Amino acid sequence: MKLFLDTANIEEIREAKSWGIIDGVTTNPSHVAKEGTKFEDLIDEIFELFPDGEISVEVTATDFDGIVKEAHTIVEAHENALVKVPLIKEGIKAIKVLSEEGIKINTTLCFSAVQAMLAAKAGATYISPFVGRLDAIGTDGIQLVRDIRQIYDNYGMETGILAAALRTPKHVLQSAVIGAEVATMNFEIMEKLFHHPMTDSGLEQFLDDWENRPVK
Ligand code: E4P
Repeated sequence: MKLFLDTANIEEIREAKSWGIIDGVTTNPSHVAKEGTKFEDLIDEIFELFPDGEISVEVTATDFDGIVKEAHTIVEAHENALVKVPLIKEGIKAIKVLSEEGIKINTTLCFSAVQAMLAAKAGATYISPFVGRLDAIGTDGIQLVRDIRQIYDNYGMETGILAAALRTPKHVLQSAVIGAEVATMNFEIMEKLFHHPMTDSGLEQFLDDWENRPVK
Protein backbone atom coordinates (compact mmCIF):
# COMPACT_ATOMS: atom_id res chain seq x y z
CA MET A 1 0.00 0.00 0.00
CA LYS A 2 1.24 3.49 -0.81
CA LEU A 3 1.18 6.11 1.93
CA PHE A 4 0.68 9.77 1.08
CA LEU A 5 0.99 12.71 3.44
CA ASP A 6 -2.06 15.01 3.33
CA THR A 7 -0.54 18.47 3.70
CA ALA A 8 1.07 21.38 1.91
CA ASN A 9 3.43 22.09 4.80
CA ILE A 10 7.06 21.91 3.73
CA GLU A 11 8.46 21.02 7.15
CA GLU A 12 5.99 18.16 7.57
CA ILE A 13 6.81 16.82 4.11
CA ARG A 14 10.57 17.11 4.78
CA GLU A 15 10.26 15.28 8.10
CA ALA A 16 7.92 12.50 6.87
CA LYS A 17 10.08 11.99 3.79
CA SER A 18 13.10 11.40 6.02
CA TRP A 19 11.27 8.35 7.46
CA GLY A 20 11.56 6.68 4.05
CA ILE A 21 8.02 5.34 3.96
CA ILE A 22 5.98 7.96 2.10
CA ASP A 23 5.19 7.72 -1.59
CA GLY A 24 3.56 11.06 -2.20
CA VAL A 25 1.67 14.10 -0.99
CA THR A 26 -1.95 15.21 -1.38
CA THR A 27 -2.43 18.96 -1.32
CA ASN A 28 -5.78 20.73 -1.53
CA PRO A 29 -6.85 24.40 -1.64
CA SER A 30 -7.41 24.51 2.14
CA HIS A 31 -3.93 23.13 2.86
CA VAL A 32 -2.37 25.66 0.47
CA ALA A 33 -4.34 28.59 1.92
CA LYS A 34 -2.95 27.82 5.41
CA GLU A 35 0.70 28.05 4.40
CA GLY A 36 1.04 31.76 3.66
CA THR A 37 3.06 31.16 0.48
CA LYS A 38 1.93 31.85 -3.09
CA PHE A 39 0.34 28.69 -4.58
CA GLU A 40 2.78 28.29 -7.49
CA ASP A 41 5.85 28.85 -5.27
CA LEU A 42 4.64 26.40 -2.66
CA ILE A 43 3.92 23.70 -5.26
CA ASP A 44 7.35 24.26 -6.86
CA GLU A 45 8.94 23.82 -3.44
CA ILE A 46 7.05 20.58 -2.80
CA PHE A 47 8.16 19.13 -6.14
CA GLU A 48 11.77 20.20 -5.49
CA LEU A 49 11.70 18.50 -2.12
CA PHE A 50 10.05 15.33 -3.42
CA PRO A 51 10.89 14.98 -7.13
CA ASP A 52 10.04 11.26 -7.30
CA GLY A 53 6.85 11.54 -5.19
CA GLU A 54 3.28 11.30 -6.42
CA ILE A 55 2.12 14.85 -5.72
CA SER A 56 -1.54 15.84 -6.07
CA VAL A 57 -2.31 19.44 -7.02
CA GLU A 58 -5.96 20.48 -7.05
CA VAL A 59 -7.77 22.62 -9.62
CA THR A 60 -10.16 25.28 -8.36
CA ALA A 61 -12.20 25.77 -11.55
CA THR A 62 -15.60 24.07 -11.58
CA ASP A 63 -16.42 24.26 -15.31
CA PHE A 64 -15.08 21.91 -17.99
CA ASP A 65 -12.93 24.49 -19.84
CA GLY A 66 -11.54 25.93 -16.64
CA ILE A 67 -10.65 22.50 -15.19
CA VAL A 68 -8.93 21.42 -18.41
CA LYS A 69 -7.02 24.72 -18.60
CA GLU A 70 -5.85 24.52 -14.97
CA ALA A 71 -4.87 20.88 -15.38
CA HIS A 72 -2.71 21.79 -18.39
CA THR A 73 -1.05 24.60 -16.44
CA ILE A 74 -0.30 22.21 -13.55
CA VAL A 75 1.28 19.52 -15.75
CA GLU A 76 3.18 22.07 -17.83
CA ALA A 77 4.92 23.13 -14.62
CA HIS A 78 5.25 19.59 -13.20
CA GLU A 79 4.73 16.83 -15.73
CA ASN A 80 4.38 14.08 -13.13
CA ALA A 81 1.71 15.89 -11.11
CA LEU A 82 -1.51 14.14 -10.24
CA VAL A 83 -4.22 16.66 -11.02
CA LYS A 84 -6.93 16.64 -8.40
CA VAL A 85 -10.37 17.18 -9.91
CA PRO A 86 -13.63 17.34 -7.92
CA LEU A 87 -16.28 14.71 -8.49
CA ILE A 88 -18.86 16.89 -10.25
CA LYS A 89 -20.32 16.43 -13.72
CA GLU A 90 -17.96 18.99 -15.28
CA GLY A 91 -15.10 17.31 -13.46
CA ILE A 92 -15.95 13.88 -14.86
CA LYS A 93 -16.17 15.33 -18.39
CA ALA A 94 -12.75 16.91 -17.91
CA ILE A 95 -11.29 13.70 -16.43
CA LYS A 96 -12.32 11.78 -19.55
CA VAL A 97 -10.50 14.22 -21.84
CA LEU A 98 -7.45 14.71 -19.60
CA SER A 99 -7.02 10.96 -19.01
CA GLU A 100 -7.07 10.36 -22.76
CA GLU A 101 -4.25 12.90 -23.02
CA GLY A 102 -2.27 10.79 -20.53
CA ILE A 103 -2.68 13.20 -17.60
CA LYS A 104 -2.93 11.43 -14.24
CA ILE A 105 -6.02 12.36 -12.24
CA ASN A 106 -6.86 12.06 -8.57
CA THR A 107 -10.65 12.45 -8.33
CA THR A 108 -11.46 14.19 -5.08
CA LEU A 109 -14.53 14.71 -2.87
CA CYS A 110 -16.00 11.25 -3.47
CA PHE A 111 -18.82 10.36 -1.09
CA SER A 112 -20.61 7.53 -2.93
CA ALA A 113 -19.64 4.32 -4.67
CA VAL A 114 -21.53 5.21 -7.84
CA GLN A 115 -19.56 8.45 -8.02
CA ALA A 116 -16.44 6.28 -7.82
CA MET A 117 -17.73 4.15 -10.69
CA LEU A 118 -18.10 7.28 -12.86
CA ALA A 119 -14.54 8.38 -12.09
CA ALA A 120 -13.24 4.95 -13.12
CA LYS A 121 -15.27 4.98 -16.33
CA ALA A 122 -13.79 8.40 -17.15
CA GLY A 123 -10.27 6.95 -16.73
CA ALA A 124 -9.13 8.51 -13.44
CA THR A 125 -5.86 7.24 -11.97
CA TYR A 126 -7.23 7.51 -8.42
CA ILE A 127 -10.53 7.97 -6.61
CA SER A 128 -10.45 9.64 -3.20
CA PRO A 129 -13.30 8.57 -0.89
CA PHE A 130 -13.41 10.95 2.11
CA VAL A 131 -13.81 8.43 4.92
CA GLY A 132 -13.68 10.63 8.02
CA ARG A 133 -16.10 13.22 6.68
CA LEU A 134 -18.73 10.49 6.21
CA ASP A 135 -18.12 9.20 9.74
CA ALA A 136 -18.59 12.75 10.98
CA ILE A 137 -22.16 12.85 9.64
CA GLY A 138 -23.00 9.51 11.24
CA THR A 139 -22.46 7.21 8.26
CA ASP A 140 -19.81 4.54 7.73
CA GLY A 141 -16.93 5.95 5.69
CA ILE A 142 -15.03 2.67 5.57
CA GLN A 143 -18.07 0.93 4.05
CA LEU A 144 -17.65 3.29 1.10
CA VAL A 145 -14.07 2.09 0.57
CA ARG A 146 -15.32 -1.52 0.77
CA ASP A 147 -18.10 -0.86 -1.78
CA ILE A 148 -15.73 0.83 -4.21
CA ARG A 149 -13.28 -2.10 -3.93
CA GLN A 150 -16.13 -4.51 -4.72
CA ILE A 151 -17.35 -2.52 -7.74
CA TYR A 152 -13.86 -2.02 -9.16
CA ASP A 153 -13.10 -5.73 -8.72
CA ASN A 154 -16.45 -6.78 -10.22
CA TYR A 155 -15.70 -4.94 -13.44
CA GLY A 156 -11.89 -5.00 -13.55
CA MET A 157 -11.75 -1.22 -13.20
CA GLU A 158 -8.16 -0.08 -12.87
CA THR A 159 -8.60 3.19 -10.97
CA GLY A 160 -6.74 3.07 -7.67
CA ILE A 161 -8.56 3.68 -4.40
CA LEU A 162 -6.92 6.51 -2.45
CA ALA A 163 -8.53 6.40 0.99
CA ALA A 164 -8.67 10.02 2.18
CA ALA A 165 -9.77 12.13 5.12
CA LEU A 166 -8.57 9.31 7.39
CA ARG A 167 -8.80 10.25 11.04
CA THR A 168 -7.25 7.32 12.90
CA PRO A 169 -4.67 4.53 12.46
CA LYS A 170 -7.67 2.17 12.47
CA HIS A 171 -8.94 3.86 9.29
CA VAL A 172 -5.53 3.18 7.74
CA LEU A 173 -5.63 -0.45 8.86
CA GLN A 174 -9.17 -0.97 7.54
CA SER A 175 -8.30 0.64 4.19
CA ALA A 176 -5.26 -1.62 3.87
CA VAL A 177 -7.26 -4.77 4.72
CA ILE A 178 -9.92 -3.85 2.15
CA GLY A 179 -7.19 -3.36 -0.45
CA ALA A 180 -7.13 0.38 -1.10
CA GLU A 181 -4.04 1.17 -3.16
CA VAL A 182 -3.22 4.32 -1.17
CA ALA A 183 -3.97 5.87 2.21
CA THR A 184 -3.46 9.59 2.68
CA MET A 185 -3.36 11.10 6.14
CA ASN A 186 -2.15 14.10 8.06
CA PHE A 187 1.20 14.23 9.83
CA GLU A 188 -0.25 13.47 13.26
CA ILE A 189 -1.95 10.25 12.14
CA MET A 190 1.10 9.12 10.19
CA GLU A 191 3.26 9.54 13.30
CA LYS A 192 0.78 7.45 15.28
CA LEU A 193 1.28 4.52 12.88
CA PHE A 194 4.73 3.92 14.40
CA HIS A 195 3.53 3.52 17.93
CA HIS A 196 2.28 0.64 20.03
CA PRO A 197 2.41 0.70 23.85
CA MET A 198 3.71 -2.89 23.91
CA THR A 199 6.62 -1.91 21.65
CA ASP A 200 7.51 0.85 24.13
CA SER A 201 7.21 -1.36 27.23
CA GLY A 202 8.97 -4.27 25.49
CA LEU A 203 11.86 -2.04 24.47
CA GLU A 204 12.13 -0.58 27.96
CA GLN A 205 12.33 -4.10 29.37
CA PHE A 206 15.03 -5.17 26.87
CA LEU A 207 17.12 -2.09 27.63
CA ASP A 208 16.74 -2.56 31.42
CA ASP A 209 17.78 -6.21 31.11
CA TRP A 210 20.73 -5.20 28.93
CA GLU A 211 21.90 -2.74 31.59
CA ASN A 212 21.90 -5.59 34.11
CA ARG A 213 23.74 -8.11 31.88
CA PRO A 214 26.78 -9.86 33.31
CA VAL A 215 29.89 -7.93 32.33
CA LYS A 216 32.52 -10.43 33.52
C1 E4P B 1 -7.38 14.28 0.30
O1 E4P B 1 -6.75 14.28 -0.71
C2 E4P B 1 -7.84 15.49 0.98
O2 E4P B 1 -6.87 16.50 0.88
C3 E4P B 1 -8.08 15.28 2.42
O3 E4P B 1 -7.99 13.94 2.81
C4 E4P B 1 -9.24 16.05 2.92
O4 E4P B 1 -9.54 15.64 4.20
P1 E4P B 1 -10.04 16.54 5.39
O5 E4P B 1 -11.43 16.11 5.69
O6 E4P B 1 -9.08 16.20 6.48
O7 E4P B 1 -9.95 17.97 4.98
